[in-house]
Amino acid sequence: MVTDPSARAFSWKKLTALAAEGPPPLSDLFDHNPGRVAHFSLEAAGVYADYSKTPVNQTILDALYGLARACDFEARRDAMFGGQRINETEERAVLHVALRDTSDRIYTVDGQNVTTDIHAVKDRMKAFVEKVHDGRHDGYGGAPLDTVVNIGIGGSDLGPAMVSRALDPYTVDGRRTFYVSNVDGADIASVLRQIDPERTLFLIASKTFTTQETMTNAETARNWFLSSGGNEAAIAKHFVALSTNEAAVTDFGIDPENMFAFWDWVGGRYSLWSAIGLSIALQIGWSGFEDLLSGARGMDRHFETMPLEGNLPASLALIDVWHRSFLGYSARAVLPYDQSLARLPAYLQQADMESLGKRIDRSGQVVDYPTGAIVFGEPGTNGQHAFYQLLHQGTDVIPCDFIAAACGQVEVGDHHEKLLANFLAQPEALMAGRSVEAARSEALATGKNPETADRLAIHRSFPGDRPTISLLVERLTPEALGALLALYEHRIFVQSILWDINAFDQWGVELGKGLAKTILAELEGEVDVASHDPSTADLIRRIKRLRRE
Ligand code: F6P
Repeated sequence: MVTDPSARAFSWKKLTALAAEGPPPLSDLFDHNPGRVAHFSLEAAGVYADYSKTPVNQTILDALYGLARACDFEARRDAMFGGQRINETEERAVLHVALRDTSDRIYTVDGQNVTTDIHAVKDRMKAFVEKVHDGRHDGYGGAPLDTVVNIGIGGSDLGPAMVSRALDPYTVDGRRTFYVSNVDGADIASVLRQIDPERTLFLIASKTFTTQETMTNAETARNWFLSSGGNEAAIAKHFVALSTNEAAVTDFGIDPENMFAFWDWVGGRYSLWSAIGLSIALQIGWSGFEDLLSGARGMDRHFETMPLEGNLPASLALIDVWHRSFLGYSARAVLPYDQSLARLPAYLQQADMESLGKRIDRSGQVVDYPTGAIVFGEPGTNGQHAFYQLLHQGTDVIPCDFIAAACGQVEVGDHHEKLLANFLAQPEALMAGRSVEAARSEALATGKNPETADRLAIHRSFPGDRPTISLLVERLTPEALGALLALYEHRIFVQSILWDINAFDQWGVELGKGLAKTILAELEGEVDVASHDPSTADLIRRIKRLRRE
């Protein structure tokens, strides 16, 4: 599907040959280029990225830029901003960037202006947030609606839940926000225990409004509301839908007046910028939500206009592809040194793995190179005391993103300096490692006898040369967070361009969903357990037996 497959094949071959020489040792790269940090770092929209501690030199980077060009990087990027149906298997445009553009630019899909609709929904969201905040939209008993429960899953949960947590210090006084996602009844039960129906606004967030988990939780919330003092007439005040599917919203019993719409060109995992972000706006206020959008817009502008060589999301994506497809690194760790970004790894797992977990290219062929990596992570320093052992001394090389803000949202004593010291120390240790000889000397210096020092040295040595990217913002404001998230979105998109896969569909999650429906009927009813593999059939029968006993 790329316009010049032979140019792509040529670039790919060149990179394969460079990879066959082995990744250049990081210490050599620094030794040979005193200006390395300046050459291998970029800043955009307030996000600074230092990728000097990755195994790329100018030859490799140039070859990667060549590959991006051969993959029509600019044309594909422009096609996205131009509203073309680049999500080819769902025949949809991909225009989440339009949601955060406050300029007078008009975005179109098939010649239709979508900007007017965006502004109309945003105006309604803003008015609604203000009415809830100043009490004009209150609860059925006249109490303020100071509690929000967002019911959604996947993109209708992870983005808003992650941002809510990240921007907690920006919360408007007195407001509480909860997120319910899992169909496990324990999830909603624990939230219902903490809220007052008279003061609670339920946001039913679902692009399709058919997702089993969300519909089940929404039904449970409604039943609880009705049995805890609310009544049918009060539903209109307390239940709001965030969706693209007006018919299903109406069927569920929510008045379309209480629905905030978005459109099929907003992918679920790219939807926090749309009506799906209403819980964020209710938490931090409309201007805070606009600041989030404007941060993302800053990164969009950079991504759209900056030539490849200075383009931050594109450059990081090229390094990701180098790591994954040429050096064979199968995972990537996301390590925010910021407790408020605790849900960022989970959010990025969906953003990245649902987008790049593809094995069929855009022309329908099975790819013959590795694509999306396994993404995992935890906030530092917690992760250091859990899985970093494997990052330092395990047999797999796992590139890491280290993320921090120079100034803490909340500065307590010298906590933030300590946090930053760890943010800086870990990448340094991962790169430098420690030789057997150095480990032996250290053991001797701490009083071990030579025999013990000899025995321990190999265990205490680190190979080093483990790649890391450091991402730094001044402070985690709504703008900075918006820019950081947009950076990741575009980085994912550019990887998909190089791999020639569609980053915007997710057919892989459908099969299991369908089977769950069949099994539910078997678990609930007297329907015979049929047409399953022997293992699944046995488990179903076993569970039924255990639930009867
Ligand atoms: O599990 C797949 C998925 O379709 C995600 O892509 C999406 O974010 C999530 O389910 C929730 O979908 P919806 O917003 O339609 O309820």
